[in-house]
Amino acid sequence: MRPSQIVVPDTEGLSQAVTLLKGDKVCAFPTETVYGLGANALSAAAISAVYQLKGRPSWNPLIVHARNADMARSLAATWPDEAAELAQRFWPGPLTLVVERAAHVPAHVSAGSPTVAIRVPAHPVAQALLEACELPLAAPSANRSEGLSPTSAEHVVRSLPEVPLVLDGGRCRLGLESTVVDVSCGTPRLLRPGALAVADIRAAVGVLDVPGHGSAHPEAVRSPGMSKRHYAPRARIVLVADFDKPTLQQLRSPLGILTYHPSDAAVADPDTRVEILPADPQGFGAELYAALHRLDECGVSTIAVLAPPAGEGWLAVRDRFDRAAA
Ligand code: TXA
Ligand code: MG
Repeated sequence: MRPSQIVVPDTEGLSQAVTLLKGDKVCAFPTETVYGLGANALSAAAISAVYQLKGRPSWNPLIVHARNADMARSLAATWPDEAAELAQRFWPGPLTLVVERAAHVPAHVSAGSPTVAIRVPAHPVAQALLEACELPLAAPSANRSEGLSPTSAEHVVRSLPEVPLVLDGGRCRLGLESTVVDVSCGTPRLLRPGALAVADIRAAVGVLDVPGHGSAHPEAVRSPGMSKRHYAPRARIVLVADFDKPTLQQLRSPLGILTYHPSDAAVADPDTRVEILPADPQGFGAELYAALHRLDECGVSTIAVLAPPAGEGWLAVRDRFDRAAA
């Protein structure tokens, strides 16, 4: 049965969402990356409601969603050239920029940091909602803290049964969170790899510090939200180099397998649930959370994952597995 909070994003659905948001309540909505749990970014009470519903630690700041670059600019104290360039190239889209926070934006949204993370989402329902409510929306991924991000309306309700409303925009096209880039202090720095490829960002601004990957600042302060365990299913995740017999024997059943080699299906016994994802990083990333949700749903205790290839194109996928396995 379809949960009653899931509504069609027509005029009536959008108006219900706007009523909630204007009353400092939360509401979930689709973006092209993952579903967000939205609240008025200019209201400390609304922001508190987001932290509370997610069970999110108060030190982990939220991303503010803006209708367009002009609204984004109005939330920032300064707008460096790199922000202007990246916004022009990639917004609306899966890029979040960390800039100096404007004085009228509550510190609570940034967990007290003098910066604020902003993005302009491309999903038509997110755009329609931002247009209709005329507010910037603070919106973390709409899942319980540390859990799997939602890429469908049903995922949201499963993770957050108390959510008052979810606008249903179908499955998220990109399926991985936005790429977060800090442009608040000189050379742009990658804080979280995500749906926008690092190579595209570098092509646009020339240089991008990638901490831990030949960065000029190897000690760089990471995004506060990048704590070790995150994006995790209930089952234990184990990365494996291949699915040979000895490896399989060591893994605890009921077992799930997640791979991008179709031939791996042949090694599994009939009780093992196998998910075969596309072998390119975009295709793999787009399906990843949905596949992990399915494996969790069928109650496996271990998910064995074929370790993704090295190389920058797979950075975001590898990052999510490292955290899910932590
Ligand atoms: O694709 C996305 O970005 C999704 C959709 C809903 O837009 N949102 C999302 O939000 O993934 P969340 O809260 O799950 O992740 C936000 C990330 C965290 O790693 C957080 O630490 C970082 O952005 N972040 C937010 N504000 C920041 C700030 N002021 N400085 C540094 N990092 C920040
Ligand atoms: Mg999240």
